[in-house]
Amino acid sequence: MLKGKEIILGISGSISAYKSAEIVSKLTKLSAKVICVMTKEATHFITPLTLQTLSKNRVYTDLFSTDFSETHISLAEIANVILIAPATANIISKLSHGAADDLLTTISLATKAPIIIAPAMNEGMWQNPILQENVAKLKRQGFHFVEPEIGHLACGKEGKGRLADVSRIIKEVEFVLARKELNGKHVLITSGPTQEPIDRVRYISNRSTGRMGFSLAEAAERRGAKVTLISGPTLLPSPDVSADIIFVDTCQEMRKEVMSHFDKCDIFISCAAVADYRPKNPVATKIKKEKTNLFIELERNPDILKEVGKIKGDKILVGFSADEEDLIERACQKLREKNLDMIVANPIEKGFGHDTNKCTLIKRQGDIIDLPLMSKREVAERMLDEIVKIVRSFNNS
Ligand code: C5P
Repeated sequence: MLKGKEIILGISGSISAYKSAEIVSKLTKLSAKVICVMTKEATHFITPLTLQTLSKNRVYTDLFSTDFSETHISLAEIANVILIAPATANIISKLSHGAADDLLTTISLATKAPIIIAPAMNEGMWQNPILQENVAKLKRQGFHFVEPEIGHLACGKEGKGRLADVSRIIKEVEFVLARKELNGKHVLITSGPTQEPIDRVRYISNRSTGRMGFSLAEAAERRGAKVTLISGPTLLPSPDVSADIIFVDTCQEMRKEVMSHFDKCDIFISCAAVADYRPKNPVATKIKKEKTNLFIELERNPDILKEVGKIKGDKILVGFSADEEDLIERACQKLREKNLDMIVANPIEKGFGHDTNKCTLIKRQGDIIDLPLMSKREVAERMLDEIVKIVRSFNNS
């Protein structure tokens, strides 16, 4: 569940900061990418080197150590979730008042990602009504809390204030990430091949199985989106979704359905391998076998994605580009021509007709993300991770 997720672990200056090493190690074992951001005070309790070694990533400690805006804005944007553990009374107070006087508070204020806070402090501080008011205020704003536990505290007393057990903290991260990032969004997906009739029984088509589109429909629905799937003919069992599924045969039928649903969607993923040509004069009966050759004149099908690119508005458009050569250049060209926010380039020999795919995600702003060979389910998850980031950047602008 945490595979490929980017987690910012904020560490503030509590004696329990040493437990952040265990948090990093557990999250990393669950295949999350952990980026540690420490307050100055936290560095008195645990060294950045320890966390860098465990996370295998650079550890950030200073708002002004590198490019100022690049660091805090890009960290705020890449995070799928921000976990602050341990969180002191001081950082809770600063967050509840919108302060931004160091890297961690600045990222927390700039991000659209969910924030989880695991407090750790002396019982008197935890029970203090001012602190409790700050906690209540943050909860109202949608911050998640992993309540501290009762036990032996560093001050020598027993009481409530111990950092929650690491397993509880990890569970909360998993719970928050399983939440519906695409709640309220309507995703329209085309999938599979189209079949263009030659006569009553024959057609022109391609080897697309429809698996990629079905995986995308399932993944989008898992993230809370309402999904409408327009699928060409496929032998696959229908995907395990409550989505509206509309089956079509030809490009023209697919175009008609896309056009009638496009208005209501927020995100359009054009995954279908639409036939570029169709027989100009399909025959209503079965063509009889003759001694001479048969010539079938083909005419161009409409490019559905290019058409919706012209009426894109503030919708997010994602396309695919399967090619044999000049993969990236051709995909970039299509991204521009069809006015897309992201295109998925994949070599024909890896994707078509297979369960796996080897994709490169190319975003409008120029980011190029090379994915290793992986199942289409995983490709769908990685694509949606990026789509969620695009949704957030649209909300920000
Ligand atoms: O230009 P090319 O066909 O390679 O572009 C592929 C992308 O365009 C895919 O996302 C595909 O779903 C979409 N497409 C379309 N209508 C067509 C052909 C392709 O929507 N007639």
